[in-house]
Amino acid sequence: MTIITGAAHGIGKAYARRFAEEGAHVVIADIDHQGGQAAAKALTDAGFSAWARTTDVRIYSDVEGLMREAVDKFDRVDVLLNNAAIYVTQKLWKGAVEDLDLAEWDRVIEVNLKGVFLCSKAVIPIMKRQRSGKIINIASGTFFSGSGNMPHYTTAKGGVVALSRVMARQLGEYGINVNCMTPGSTMSEDSVTEEVLKRREGSVEKRAFRRIETPADIVGTALFLASSDSDFVTGQLLIVEGGGIMH
Ligand SMILES: NC(=O)c1ccc[n+]([C@@H]2O[C@H](COP(=O)([O-])OP(=O)(O)OC[C@H]3O[C@@H](n4cnc5c(N)ncnc54)[C@H](O)[C@@H]3O)[C@@H](O)[C@H]2O)c1
Repeated sequence: MTIITGAAHGIGKAYARRFAEEGAHVVIADIDHQGGQAAAKALTDAGFSAWARTTDVRIYSDVEGLMREAVDKFDRVDVLLNNAAIYVTQKLWKGAVEDLDLAEWDRVIEVNLKGVFLCSKAVIPIMKRQRSGKIINIASGTFFSGSGNMPHYTTAKGGVVALSRVMARQLGEYGINVNCMTPGSTMSEDSVTEEVLKRREGSVEKRAFRRIETPADIVGTALFLASSDSDFVTGQLLIVEGGGIMH
């Protein structure tokens, strides 16, 4: 069974579909109740296994409840994909560090970094008991480039990379893999306006593959990190963005 946070929309929704198509029981853990229900219904209507459990990744009791109910329902948690975040698809402030409001800093760090910590903290005891599990965390190319004028967002994503490495070292002896993956600027919006298109086209020139990235470009890497094919891969960061960043 695979828990995907933030799977009501965007790339998370695409992970959910791809995992379901591969036969996984998918749990959609999103703060958006209606969006989560709709995403799960689309999958079950298509004959797949999906369950929407409304969850706010900022609230530990809520996250603990998610894990408890998931285990009650499916006996185990094979994969946790920490994807939920505040990103430009929602309201996200951009500008200079010295102008960044304290409340806006906290708002983004709370979801994008603390949310990953809380979900991981709640799932680790379950995966330790199983002596297996895969935690996949979603970072961002802005961590490498420092681009985008989003100091809080980029810092949170850097923290996600750091936390992934610590967890990978701590959890190896329990057979738990922890890896990170980084999409580039991806056309994940539910509706594509001229402005969205312009923003996404802005990243094309710096890539080896000169085209707009879509969620379909990313989901296969998540699947690899969730599968037994990556059993000896841990603490790593895979950059899935057409070769704009190489490391
Ligand atoms: N789209 C891109 O260009 C891009 C680039 C690099 C990294 N990423 C990362 O990929 C992931 C998905 O991005 P996206 O473009 O699909 O974003 P999105 O805004 O479309 O989706 C984010 C999802 O997270 C959910 N969410 C927000 N706050 C939550 C909370 N407190 N608890 C639970 N769920 C919550 C939202 O409801 C939404 O469904 C994010 O981690 C993002 O940082 C995206």
